[in-house]
Amino acid sequence: MQTVHRIAELRALLAGRRQAGERIALAPTMGNLHRGHLQLVEVAKTLADCSVASIFVNPMQFGPKDDFNSYPRTLEADSRQLAAVGLDLLFAPPVAEVYPQGMDNTTRVEVPELSHILCGASRPVHFAGVATVVSKLFNMVQPDVALFGEKDWQQLLVIHRLTADLNFPVEVVGVPTVREADGLAMSSRNGYLSAAERTLAPTLYATLQTAAARLQAGERDYAAIQRDACAALEQAGFRPDYFEIRRADDLAPPEERDTELRILAAAWLGKARLIDNCPVKAPAPV
Ligand code: PAJ
Repeated sequence: MQTVHRIAELRALLAGRRQAGERIALAPTMGNLHRGHLQLVEVAKTLADCSVASIFVNPMQFGPKDDFNSYPRTLEADSRQLAAVGLDLLFAPPVAEVYPQGMDNTTRVEVPELSHILCGASRPVHFAGVATVVSKLFNMVQPDVALFGEKDWQQLLVIHRLTADLNFPVEVVGVPTVREADGLAMSSRNGYLSAAERTLAPTLYATLQTAAARLQAGERDYAAIQRDACAALEQAGFRPDYFEIRRADDLAPPEERDTELRILAAAWLGKARLIDNCPVKAPAPV
């Protein structure tokens, strides 16, 4: 595995691979890698000849009250894990390489509507920061295919939209959520949980599954299902941010006839804001 920190070095190496006719896959990350991230690399390797991962804790997607300063930075351990799964090229730029003019005066990419609901409602700058850095990474790497986790379903839809709207010649592929044995979605932020909180954390996924089962059984009172789920989370010690049943492909509130649904949730447990989601295929109304 090669590691580069500069855009010019990255471009020079990839130009050679492209000239040799290789297909390039990109898995963008913020590091502190777990099996969820490594799964993106595994899928990248099946879809391309040259697998590239980026590690960049992107300051633009963190709000003033978010955890940018304390976000875990573990480049050495991450590099070892990426080399072990057979990654070809790691791009780990410093902040000044990505934002040489600073962040305040730089061009931004803003995906309307999708960026301001659900996670975007409580994190107003978040998705513009994600959309901007992913657009920049697409231009730096110029991948044929890029991998993103379904764990961040709203982020995946934002990236599908920006790719279509800005005509990036990139195929965006979603990778199913990798979970711990007890159902908890793997996340770098799980490290913020105390031992006691860690035992409660799988309740988030269990609550999503309970709601999914009610929808699959034909229930259509979305508001009642959401209310019960928030109550169950509060009962278990979470502070729910949202628990919402939405249309899977555009996150609009569903109509009774919609069958391709996604349930999305965000909830605080101690210092950690956990997010998760699950798909539901609801029966068509008779
Ligand atoms: P990060 O949280 O490091 O996640 C990097 C990628 O790994 C994202 O596509 C995310 O959805 C995926 N991922 C995280 N946990 C996963 C899990 N348990 N199973 C499957 N995939 C998982 O998401 C970001 O970084 C940033 O916003 C980024 C896209 C890199 C832009 O800065």
